[in-house]
Formats: sequence, structure tokens, C-alpha cells
Amino acid sequence: MTKLHVTTTINGEAREYLCEPNQSMLDVLRDELGLTGTKEGCGTGDCGACSILVGERLVCACLMLGAEAQDAHIETIEGIAGESGLHILQSKFLEHAALQCGICTPGFIVAAKALLDKHPNPDETTIRYWLAGNLCRCTGYRPIRDAATEVAGTRPKGTLLRCLQEATCTKRDLAYDCHGESFQIPTSFEDLFEYMEKHPGARIVAGGTDLSLEITKAHRRLPNLISVESLEELHRLELREDGVYIGAAVPLTDVESALQD
Ligand code: FES
Ligand code: FES
Repeated sequence: MTKLHVTTTINGEAREYLCEPNQSMLDVLRDELGLTGTKEGCGTGDCGACSILVGERLVCACLMLGAEAQDAHIETIEGIAGESGLHILQSKFLEHAALQCGICTPGFIVAAKALLDKHPNPDETTIRYWLAGNLCRCTGYRPIRDAATEVAGTRPKGTLLRCLQEATCTKRDLAYDCHGESFQIPTSFEDLFEYMEKHPGARIVAGGTDLSLEITKAHRRLPNLISVESLEELHRLELREDGVYIGAAVPLTDVESALQD
């Protein structure tokens, strides 16, 4: 089978790989790129063990498709530690004995790092809220929360921050159509409708919370896929005089922050 050629940036380095249209980002990281720090727990988007950053968004790699990484900026647990050793979050996890088996730990660290980059001085409620999507089955949450709380306010440096700053510069664009399989990332509605007309049965990838499970859990092969990641209009949230306009692909966390007041 022909594979897609994807070019992307991972932990600040330009990377290229071949993947199948239905291959998950988690499998790409672990099997194709040897980045095994990102773990698989549930494989259904529920435990957070596979958390990575795609641009400014915290994403479950088990729900993302490898092809969606085209032109993206991705950060994994391997990018957290600096050349001089452990990141302060990692040191604090050790100090507080915030890990036992360790399978959940990379996900917690990536989530905590993302939180601190966005909210340098979070209160306890915010810390709890941000880490609520990550499950731990053997350590208990208190030492994890304590480790994150101790780092809050220190504004730790790292590549994630740079990643957040660079992330808005690129627009992903991919068109693959081969041997009856296709994967498109249109950048305009015009292109989207053209692809939909060409592949009337194509499935839309938007977050992948249901669709990816058809692939990974129901073992279905979805031959024609269209990702709406690059349709800027769908990611826009606008507070206008006459109301709030929320694009269909705006994450709920963004809606919550925007509507907090
Ligand atoms: Fe549990 Fe991805 S492995 S959320
Ligand atoms: Fe074992 Fe969290 S340390 S699941």
C-alpha cells in the first residue's frame, strides 16, 4: 500500500515520515519515530497518557491521525527536558513521589507544562481543572497536584513556549489520493466542497473523538478522510455586539475561557 509523506516539526526539529491514512499519531510517534515516551493507556481519549501538544492545543495522540501532523508544531515529553537535565516539573514529580508505575506521568507532565505556559500562575482550581483529563491508577492525585503547584509561578522556560509562539504561523495543507484511499486537509471551503464532491462518502475528521475509535477499536478501514483542521473559520470564536459566534471546531476549553466573564 502507498503511504502518505508527512513533513512536520517535532520538539523543534523538522521531521518527515510515511504513514497510512488510518494510522494514529500515537502509533506514528512510537513505531515510526521511536518517540516512546508518549504512552498508550486507554487508547480511547479518556486517560491522557498519550497527551502531546499540537501548536497550542493539548491533544490525545491516540485520537489524532498521523496525517494531521502535516505542517504542525508538535511537542512530546521528549521535548520537555532541556539539555541540562530534567525539567523542573519532572524534578518536582520525583521529589513529591508523584509517580509509581509511570505510565501516566508523561501525559501529566505535558499537561502541566501546557497549563503553566498558558497560565503561568494558576490557582489550585485551575490546576485541578487542567489535570482533570489525566488519570492515574496507582499514585494518587495529591502528590501530582502538589508537584504542579510548586512549579506554578516560576514561569519555567522550554520549547513548549516557543512552540506556542510559532504555532500560529503555519497553515496545514495536504492532499493525498492513491489506490482508492485519500486524505485531504483543505485550507478553504472551496477546496473542502470540491473534495466532498469527488469523494461523496468521505468522512470528516474534526477532533477524532468518535471517528478515531472506529479505526482503533472497531478496526474499520476508513478509505476517504477529510480533516477540517486548516479551515480557520471553524476555529474562530467572536464576541460580537449581537452575540457570540462559535466556530464548530472551537475547543470547549476556549469557549469556557472566552465566556468566563
Ligand atoms: Fe488514553 Fe490516549 S491513551 S487518552
Ligand atoms: Fe501508575 Fe499513574 S503512576 S498510573
